[in-house]
Amino acid sequence: MSERKAFVVGRPINHSRSPLIHGTWLERYNVADGEYGAIDVGAEELFGLLQRVRKGEFRGGNVTIPHKETVFAEVEQRDEAAQAIGAVNTLWVENGELVGGNTDAYGFAANLDENAPGWSDGGTALVLGAGGASRAVLHALLSRGFETVWLANRTAARAEDLATHFGPKVRALPWDQVPETLGGAKLLVNTTALGMEGGEALDLDLEKLPEGAVVTDIVYVPLETPLLKAARERGNVRVVDGLGMLLHQAAPGFERWFGVRPEVTRELRDLVVADLERPKTP
Ligand code: ATR
Repeated sequence: MSERKAFVVGRPINHSRSPLIHGTWLERYNVADGEYGAIDVGAEELFGLLQRVRKGEFRGGNVTIPHKETVFAEVEQRDEAAQAIGAVNTLWVENGELVGGNTDAYGFAANLDENAPGWSDGGTALVLGAGGASRAVLHALLSRGFETVWLANRTAARAEDLATHFGPKVRALPWDQVPETLGGAKLLVNTTALGMEGGEALDLDLEKLPEGAVVTDIVYVPLETPLLKAARERGNVRVVDGLGMLLHQAAPGFERWFGVRPEVTRELRDLVVADLERPKTP
């Protein structure tokens, strides 16, 4: 029986939890001929890897930093989300051609569907950050019907560029106006690097956030970022950590390569949390 192989490609890649997630599902669903591994390559070797995928050595794979935009440019076809976001995180092959998809927006929305039901029932969202992750979040919010999305970024020009890209529902907001804008926000999303372990925290007074608002962070190391901690301590808001986005974005790729739609379970989450708590060798 020939193997069905998939991968996650990036550099560095040793911190990726994708092999753990997909490995757990391969076992859980008895995909005996399935294999999922991490591939560490730089920009030059990436093209050779893509060629091997086209030739059928792999069913496809996940793409992570720093290759998401390069792969976007290299594939022969893209799905709608990849097209809107401008980056590819999931690859597969159709008739010898590479197809690039993006499941980050799906993962973001599925995490909130699971942990904050009703999160997208109208209202205004406030998004912090205008990098790659922000593009996926904005696509998710517009797809789910948000009419107004305020977008604030330290470097204002990047927020303005994204507002232009995504159209009039996305409005650039000066960074210093974030605290006062919180009062009208039903959803607050941090997509900046602020709050990551060992880095600078996001220091924001959440007093004005309306009761019942949802606060989420796409940073998941630590699981409870300073922003999420502040939201929990403020009370009367719903707090959703970023790990569920990682778990849910993995499911569509697994289904494409291995033919089974996997479930994001509490057990899977616990396994990944335990792994996050384990010290990693550099
Ligand atoms: P990603 O693909 O993860 O979104 P990125 O494209 O490097 O990564 O974007 C990182 C985001 O974090 C940007 O919005 C960045 O703001 P700038 O565009 O001004 O650089 C934001 N960010 C990083 N460090 C920050 C800091 N100290 N204060 C505020 N924002 C910060």
